[in-house]
Amino acid sequence: MLDFIFKPESIAVVGASEEEKKIGHVILKNLLTQGYAGKLFPINPKRKEILGLKCYPSVSAVGEKIDLAVIVVPAKVVPSVIKDCGEAGVKGVVVITAGFKETGEEGAKLEREILDLIKKYGIRMVGPNCLGVINTELGMNATFAPELPPKGRVSFFSQSGALGVALIDWAIGSGFGFGKFVSFGNKADLNETDFLEYFGEDEDTDIILGYIEDVKDGKRFIEVAKRVAKKKPVILIKSGATEAGARAASSHTGALAGSDRAFTEAFRKAGVIRVEGIKELFEVAEVFKSGKFPSGEKLLIVTNAGGPGIIAADTAEKNGLKLYPMSKESIEYLAEKLPPTAALYNPVDVIGDATSERYAVVLERAMVDPNVDGVCVILTPQAVTDVENVAKIMLEKSKETEKPFVGCFIGGPKVREATSYLKTNNIACYEDPLIAINAYSKLVHYVKYKHREEDEYIKFPISEEVKKEIGFMLEALRDAGVSVIGEENAMKILSLYGIEFPKRGLARTADEAVRIAEQIGYPVVMKISSPHIIHKTDVGGVKVGLKDEKEVREAFVEMTINVKRAMPGAYIKGVNIYEMVTGGKEVILGVTYDNTFGHMIMFGLGGVYVEVLKDVSFRLTPVGKREAYEMIEEIKGKKLLEGVRGEKPCDKDAIVDKILRLSQLVEEFPIIKEIDINPYLVKEVGGVALDARIIIG
Ligand code: ACO
Repeated sequence: MLDFIFKPESIAVVGASEEEKKIGHVILKNLLTQGYAGKLFPINPKRKEILGLKCYPSVSAVGEKIDLAVIVVPAKVVPSVIKDCGEAGVKGVVVITAGFKETGEEGAKLEREILDLIKKYGIRMVGPNCLGVINTELGMNATFAPELPPKGRVSFFSQSGALGVALIDWAIGSGFGFGKFVSFGNKADLNETDFLEYFGEDEDTDIILGYIEDVKDGKRFIEVAKRVAKKKPVILIKSGATEAGARAASSHTGALAGSDRAFTEAFRKAGVIRVEGIKELFEVAEVFKSGKFPSGEKLLIVTNAGGPGIIAADTAEKNGLKLYPMSKESIEYLAEKLPPTAALYNPVDVIGDATSERYAVVLERAMVDPNVDGVCVILTPQAVTDVENVAKIMLEKSKETEKPFVGCFIGGPKVREATSYLKTNNIACYEDPLIAINAYSKLVHYVKYKHREEDEYIKFPISEEVKKEIGFMLEALRDAGVSVIGEENAMKILSLYGIEFPKRGLARTADEAVRIAEQIGYPVVMKISSPHIIHKTDVGGVKVGLKDEKEVREAFVEMTINVKRAMPGAYIKGVNIYEMVTGGKEVILGVTYDNTFGHMIMFGLGGVYVEVLKDVSFRLTPVGKREAYEMIEEIKGKKLLEGVRGEKPCDKDAIVDKILRLSQLVEEFPIIKEIDINPYLVKEVGGVALDARIIIG
């Protein structure tokens, strides 16, 4: 628990100053004048008194218990101050000072020095290079932002201090309430996951917002976020493609993933709501403030304006919401109470001359109607519209139901007061139907996550001998300097984990080729086998559809000549003879690796679909059964797998089985960084992989 940082009973400001322009002065003054009621100790060896408070030469000279020290002395002095804090038994420090890792190697060294010190003394640290900490409930402003934001139950952590200052100012201007705020700068010790965990436990926080540029420990972040998001919404901005997120994309799969994909997947896995910018962050946060969650996707739109109603309906459908008409009884009731010109279906149009009573009639029915899980109330301020009263009715009715209502009051001065009245009473109200519905749909998606059952993680029985065999193979290849494992070895490893390949045999002579082909049965495929040749087709090393002995003999000679000519230095082991597999649909299965979050499995339709349309889906490992099915559902071309124009559907279970096997393989052999199985032919029943590559590192 980080209460000693967010709820300290005593704070020392080290580097407190009399000079008004200095940060050490501003922070002490903020703490002294904005409501903090705990004990305050200015620390400065040059002063006896600052802002009327007794000043001490060092933290250890105070002689009283100090929970938190806010450090605002120049960087080179920070280590000695931390040492002093350690000796005095301080539990937490907030290092505002800049000039550490962000400035280069010298600064990084200094940062490591302070990290070693806090570890030695068991201190927890926020920063360095940060804005500080706020707890509005305690009137505690341990930052150099000039004012506290209004009180609220939304807490916010930010990797950027400057953004924090701007947000606080914005919150003051718009009346958006905050509970706790922390800017964590270089996050040498405490990072996003620690604050997420703390806010998750914090009884005064209902909604967690955050701004991050990277994540320190991806696996822990997912594990904590997953747990926290089950309790309260976590809404994050993630900006910047970072070094941690980037990876060398040697495989097809890696190239398709891009640098940001792992974050999208991590957020999805953990139920984190991702938003793109600051405005959206608050728009989405608003919709969660009521604390009411729709029990499903059925949204009712009620409007006094046709156009905005259509925009809302279109946006709702795009976001996967369901716009059902209300029940028969409700529609009959509305027909009785509303004018004949009103549209009774969804959106319900109460018409331009609507009075607040008409809205009341619709809301009353919506509250009890089984076809409505939530309501969006759209209003444009016509001369006869009683805007304030509509807002009052919304609030009144919302008190009687667990179904969430959102407002969309479009206009300027005429709707301003009603909008702010609704917001003050925790009913989200927007000025654009697109924004209103986008925000509302985040609420619906969050509820799905909240009620989602834990996925089913399947463990295929792989014997210890098999694991040993693969382990030896991978290590031997790595020790031999191999990073790209070609077809034969890749097939061997993958088939040991249950990925099927066609029947195969390696021929060193034309006679042997014929014998193997006859054992397998014609037609066959022939591929040159050489550890030095990855792209076999490019050097004339692949022949397909060979129907008899003559063709096999000729192909053997031609291929070896082709390859020797194209790559004279390549060592040729022989020619692989494969069973020729036909029918089925080509898909691609792959694995890529992200430095922050680990392995990701990819699935997509093969051939042109992957080359041109990049129609693929990803999930981070370990992949659960539900996730694997979702991967298939997610691609645009899934209909092709279900069978079009009388075709039989492909075996989705076989694809899921392979996804889960790949997930298990890379979890058990993290030395594997990337895999391409391209194509995998999926048939009516089962499937078979035609080519594979593994990259280790
Ligand atoms: N213990 C206590 N006080 C000390 C000690 C010590 N060991 N050593 C020095 N001091 C006193 C100084 O005497 C001075 O007091 P004075 O005004 O009475 O002389 C006070 O501490 C501050 O020291 P200065 O040398 O005057 O340093 P200054 O206040 O100019 O700068 C600061 C210090 C603010 C920490 C600066 O080094 C710095 O890092 N600035 C950038 C901060 C920043 O931007 N952080 C990131 C924020 S996030 C964002 O982007 C918004």
